[in-house]
Amino acid sequence: MTLSAAIEKILSPRPARYYDRVDSTNDLAVEWLREGAPTGAVVIADEQLKGRGRLGRIWHTPAGMALAVSVILHPKPAVLSQVSMLGALAIVDVCLQTGLNGVGIKWPNDVQINGRKVSGILPEVVWQGEQLLGVVLGIGLNVRNDFRDTELAQSAVTLETALGQPVDRQEILVTLLECVDAWYKHIGGNYVFDAWKGRLTTLGQQVTVLGGIQGKAETVDGEGALWVRTEDAALHRVIAGDIALG
Ligand code: BTN
Repeated sequence: MTLSAAIEKILSPRPARYYDRVDSTNDLAVEWLREGAPTGAVVIADEQLKGRGRLGRIWHTPAGMALAVSVILHPKPAVLSQVSMLGALAIVDVCLQTGLNGVGIKWPNDVQINGRKVSGILPEVVWQGEQLLGVVLGIGLNVRNDFRDTELAQSAVTLETALGQPVDRQEILVTLLECVDAWYKHIGGNYVFDAWKGRLTTLGQQVTVLGGIQGKAETVDGEGALWVRTEDAALHRVIAGDIALG
């Protein structure tokens, strides 16, 4: 049996497409979504050549090192902002289930272990005219990447380094998808938002928002925006972007 067939069998009955190498799993999932893929369908790749991160950044997925996963979901338009929240919560659960401590979410949805990024989320919303077709929840999880001698050496971490032992990528994949399913059941209402807010390590911290504003991260709202109090006591609503602590 090919690896592709084996992985698709492990994930069965979930519709799954596994590839050794792609440009971006999100691109393939967007195509599949447009063709009518059901909720929970997933595209997985061992290696991405043009993996995309937030804010137009590149996301590296070298062969054999990580998980690159894009899950197709069909939320109602009013709760779109909860998709990336539930993605981050699913990854937090994966980390906790492996026995890790020090797991939190840096706003907006970077999952960190003791302050180092282990995973990122890139949701892509797909419209046909005014109609919401669905969302692709792209998840990149560092499993055993080698960040030495890279610009990420200080800021990123892998599951295996954090745990100090090897993990089985297929097991992690299965757990991750189960966790996404479990959180997706709660989309709408306050459950996902409250859990996400509760895991944020950013609140109460001094932050510098990419682009200028400096202040204290005071709270978040239901849309996922961050409210930052600057020294002049003004409150700023930050909807996207990145923050540096301090
Ligand atoms: C971030 O910048 O933190 C988000 C990174 C998201 C990467 C994942 S890997 C699977 C999916 N395919 C992509 O091209 N990007 C996302």
